[in-house]
Amino acid sequence: MSTSEMARLEQSLSAWVDASRVYTSRGKVAAYIPELSKAPKDALGITILSSAGQSVSAGDSELKFTMQSISKVFTLILALMDNGEKAVFDKVGMEPTGDNFNSMLKLELVQPGIPFNPLINAGAITISSLIKGSGPAEKSARILEFFKRLAGNDRLSYDSDVYLSESETGDLNRSMAYLLKDHGVLEGKVDDVLDVYFRHCSIQADCADLSRMALVLSCNGTDPVTGESLIPRRFVQIAKTFMTTCGMYNASGEFAIQVGLPAKSGVSGGILALVPGRFGIGVVGPALNAKGNSCAGVRLLETISQEMDWSMF
Ligand code: DON
Repeated sequence: MSTSEMARLEQSLSAWVDASRVYTSRGKVAAYIPELSKAPKDALGITILSSAGQSVSAGDSELKFTMQSISKVFTLILALMDNGEKAVFDKVGMEPTGDNFNSMLKLELVQPGIPFNPLINAGAITISSLIKGSGPAEKSARILEFFKRLAGNDRLSYDSDVYLSESETGDLNRSMAYLLKDHGVLEGKVDDVLDVYFRHCSIQADCADLSRMALVLSCNGTDPVTGESLIPRRFVQIAKTFMTTCGMYNASGEFAIQVGLPAKSGVSGGILALVPGRFGIGVVGPALNAKGNSCAGVRLLETISQEMDWSMF
């Protein structure tokens, strides 16, 4: 990271947020989890944290939101740390689907009926079943503890309204989980597995939390702020590859071309992205495009990547 890059970000980030904010009007806040519909539609915020520990924020970076699908990157890593690569990839594949994040089409169409990857809902529910623990409470506690260490934030906790809202309305995920159980992919009780899944989706964060978690991935599993090694490098490599190929769902190809950074989005409007070895990025913008990604958040990342010449490709 050069000092001039940080100076450029400090000088321009607010203007880039202002210019991208107009795109919030083109999207819609997610409402299929009723509690999510309360989020402010025109909000947009960002925090960028450098490997030297310097951070710059702009816009509504202090807005709290639930991690939703962003959490899937880190439950995947914990499942890999708990079980190793072979056991995890016996249950989930490594390929993008080209389908919506909540589709179960290919579970029927393509044998052996395992989820195509760990970042679609079917895959992430399967990953939840692989987290070690005596029951859903212990598994969820281990996930929250892991997230706290990665974010360097002991105060991370659940948004219980969002958790309850998803738990009451999550019938599509429930039907998916029963199908997976029938295919012999899910072990244990479906309700227990879903409880772990709904809980980790409802972990609340802000842009600074995401930027710190992203920075750990960008530095191959070591938190550069504390020097502590938190994740084996191989598992970070797997996670970053999935982020690049599947992290923005069926818009991952377009995002790779326009932004060119590993990233993961969530339906609450968060995006976690990283510049390898240099920066962790957290973005929030609750208004979503048709593919479920933050409209203005994607636009902002396109601007930053192009202005800073950050694409990996
Ligand atoms: O299972 C769900 O539908 C949500 N808890 C998470 C989905 C999500 O964030 C997909 N993102 N784009």
